[in-house]
Amino acid sequence: MPEPLLEVSDLRIRFGGFTAVDGLSFSVRPGEVLGVVGESGSGKSVSMLGVLGLIRTPGAKISGKVVFRGRDLLALKNAEMRAIRGREIAMIFQDPMTALTPVYTIGWQIAEQVRAHEKVSKRAARDRAIKLLDEVGIPAPEQRVDAYPHEFSGGMRQRAVIAMALSCNPALLIADEPTTALDVTTQAQILDLLRRLRADHGSAVVMITHDMGVVSEIADEVLVMYGGRAVERGSRTEVFHSPRHPYTWGLLDSVPRVSGPRVRRLPTIPGTPGAAGQGCPFADRCTHRLAACAEAPPLSGTAGHLDACWLPEEEKTR
Ligand SMILES: Nc1ncnc2c1ncn2[C@@H]1O[C@H](COP(=O)(O)OP(=O)(O)OP(=O)(O)O)[C@@H](O)[C@H]1O
Ligand SMILES: [Mg+2]
Repeated sequence: MPEPLLEVSDLRIRFGGFTAVDGLSFSVRPGEVLGVVGESGSGKSVSMLGVLGLIRTPGAKISGKVVFRGRDLLALKNAEMRAIRGREIAMIFQDPMTALTPVYTIGWQIAEQVRAHEKVSKRAARDRAIKLLDEVGIPAPEQRVDAYPHEFSGGMRQRAVIAMALSCNPALLIADEPTTALDVTTQAQILDLLRRLRADHGSAVVMITHDMGVVSEIADEVLVMYGGRAVERGSRTEVFHSPRHPYTWGLLDSVPRVSGPRVRRLPTIPGTPGAAGQGCPFADRCTHRLAACAEAPPLSGTAGHLDACWLPEEEKTR
């Protein structure tokens, strides 16, 4: 087993009295695709922004350890972190407009991204931008390279952002819902691109998504989040075929069967996610609740398949 590329331990992120991420630990090995799933508000985006040092909210409190290639990212200076972001780690944000500047052309922005990290001529950077736009499926990229973000459709903007993220062949790509806004054909193209990034450059990918179909297609490992915590973690096969946490059961039950239509957003399980507090964050919505659930269960298990649930082992099957 290769050493982890990224190892996050006991990450905690608080905004005032609200705990958005509550002791999250996970690791990603080189070339691995980790699928992060969990409903809206479970802390998926915030935890990854925390990993990258991108939480700017005044008064936000972040603690824990984020070790990437042997360095603790939470301890780095801003300038050191900037050098890592975009070159060794790239992020595709949930909202593509946060990554694009309205006043510059798409091609200029991709070319600048290339030139920020590599000594290449403007001409060569522009050619790279055209090639990248072509790779992410933008038609007529030689013309489209000179378009402004508002001239692109939402799906095209998302693809342009993906092109920017791929421009420096990062060792780790964190992709937050990169395919949600896209039609099925484009989505398949993007998943192919991510697979190629891994095959050609050994890149690891953290893929945040609501779409269990996407996870089942691309992830090696799956992290299920609920209420700012990891409730289950295991290989794709383990999590899909022998899920252990009642929340994961609910997630998988809400995935339509083969004949049904494909859902983009996970239907919700009754109730609303509780703010992380003392007990198990899922207890209020759990039909298997025990007295023990008043205290938060630790994430534990064997051979890489972990869950945070007090149910007796023999009852952790659907
Ligand atoms: N800057 C912030 N200040 C205060 N609260 C925040 C901030 N950012 C996120 N939160 C809160 O943290 C929780 C987790 O948010 P997050 O964006 O990580 O959810 P998510 O799992 O990515 O959801 P979605 O699937 O809808 O994108 C939410 O309750 C959100 O309101
Ligand atoms: Mg999010």
